[in-house]
Amino acid sequence: MKIKSKILIIAGSDSSGGAGIQADIKTVTALGSYATTAITAVTSQNTKGVKSIIPIAPREIFNQIIFTSKDIRPDAIKIGMLHSTKVIEYVIKSLENLKIKKIILDPVMVAKGGAKLIDNKAIKSLKLKLISKTILITPNIPEAEILTNTKIKNQEDMIYAANKLIASGAKNVLIKGGHLKFKLVKDIFVNKSEIKVFTSKRYKTNNTHGTGCTLSSAITTFLSCGKPIKKACELGIKYVNSAIKTNPKYGKGYGPINHLNSMKVEKKFK
Ligand SMILES: Nc1ncnc2c1ncn2[C@@H]1O[C@H](COP(=O)(O)OP(=O)(O)OP(=O)(O)O)[C@@H](O)[C@H]1O
Ligand SMILES: [Mg+2]
Repeated sequence: MKIKSKILIIAGSDSSGGAGIQADIKTVTALGSYATTAITAVTSQNTKGVKSIIPIAPREIFNQIIFTSKDIRPDAIKIGMLHSTKVIEYVIKSLENLKIKKIILDPVMVAKGGAKLIDNKAIKSLKLKLISKTILITPNIPEAEILTNTKIKNQEDMIYAANKLIASGAKNVLIKGGHLKFKLVKDIFVNKSEIKVFTSKRYKTNNTHGTGCTLSSAITTFLSCGKPIKKACELGIKYVNSAIKTNPKYGKGYGPINHLNSMKVEKKFK
């Protein structure tokens, strides 16, 4: 298979391999593109929870982004966990330096086990400084609630919050519905001119570790290969849905999904 595009991932490391940088690299690779990385933090975690988080110094994050991208220029950038205001400032500085248009932000705030991954000041600078520099943000329900100061219980609330984010400077918003408990799962895409509800089958499983990271990386990959933003969201959701369906049932807590669901190994390697 010929490599289709190059993606820079700015995110934290998940030692259990289901979320964070590890999920991002697997997703980008399984969808046919090349991943470079800037690691923002190193977490020790398993499917049951986070044991520790070691932040990487902001200047080192900046160096990873610039030194690598000046050599291997990415077609698109996916941003995940940014834990402090200082990190956000350095990331913005690096983005301004690189001038790449296709930037997707997954505003990660809380891990599936409940651990808080970002401080309150950082949430404010995400809102005020970073969101407007991206082409798409992909908050889950709790993140959309925090970013908009609203309560989200159903589809109407999701649309209201998404419109609020558009009004405050976001270009495209995909609010993920994984945290609501309806029979069907709905992810809602909104921009200035349209609203699109993506409806998928909800699987009864705890094995959804890293669905958010995986989705934003999948969308970034499709976008980097030239798909329009709404189509990239649709394909990303399909990839995650099929990854949940075929999850490998690893670990005793929230297990990982199957990032390889899109792949076939060539005969000569069998
Ligand atoms: N049980 C499920 N069945 C089917 N799809 C799901 C399920 N849970 C989540 N999804 C899908 O996974 C994607 C990510 O949504 P989710 O709301 O879980 O994001 P998240 O909370 O950011 O994930 P993470 O915990 O990895 O950060 C969405 O497309 C959502 O519809
Ligand atoms: Mg998430």
